[in-house]
Amino acid sequence: MTADNRIVLSSDHAAIPLRQVIARHVAARGWVVADIGPVTPESTPYPRHGEAAARMVASGECRLGIVLCGTGQGIMMAANKVKGIRCGVCSDTFSARMIREHNDANMLSLGARVVGEGLALAIVDAFLDATFEGGRHAARVEMIAVLER
Ligand code: RB5
Repeated sequence: MTADNRIVLSSDHAAIPLRQVIARHVAARGWVVADIGPVTPESTPYPRHGEAAARMVASGECRLGIVLCGTGQGIMMAANKVKGIRCGVCSDTFSARMIREHNDANMLSLGARVVGEGLALAIVDAFLDATFEGGRHAARVEMIAVLER
């Protein structure tokens, strides 16, 4: 089952406050947010949380996902190990738009130690507002899927 307006958010300990700000922002935009934590500040490994969010997107339970860690890099690497996930880490709004328009990204990763709150929300908006262009890009995205098989 795919919930077209359902989005999952997750992070490690390094990004809890920013994740919670983003969760409120995305909910205010009309998305149904599955914020799967964590909520307490103890150190917790980013692969666990990247995988959990990615599985919810890969299964169709959520259409999109946003994950965060200190740099956004580790949790993005973990998410991309789940079949069907295309997750990009972004520190600018242009890249956030392009990973949807050209790469059909279904997950966005952010670094809480890299971007401030205002930029993070602008990146999230650019990601959510963009649409996959298809066309010549569809064949390239399909080539990524072939690599997974
Ligand atoms: C945790 O200290 C940090 O390594 C993690 O949040 C992330 O930046 C890894 O990529």
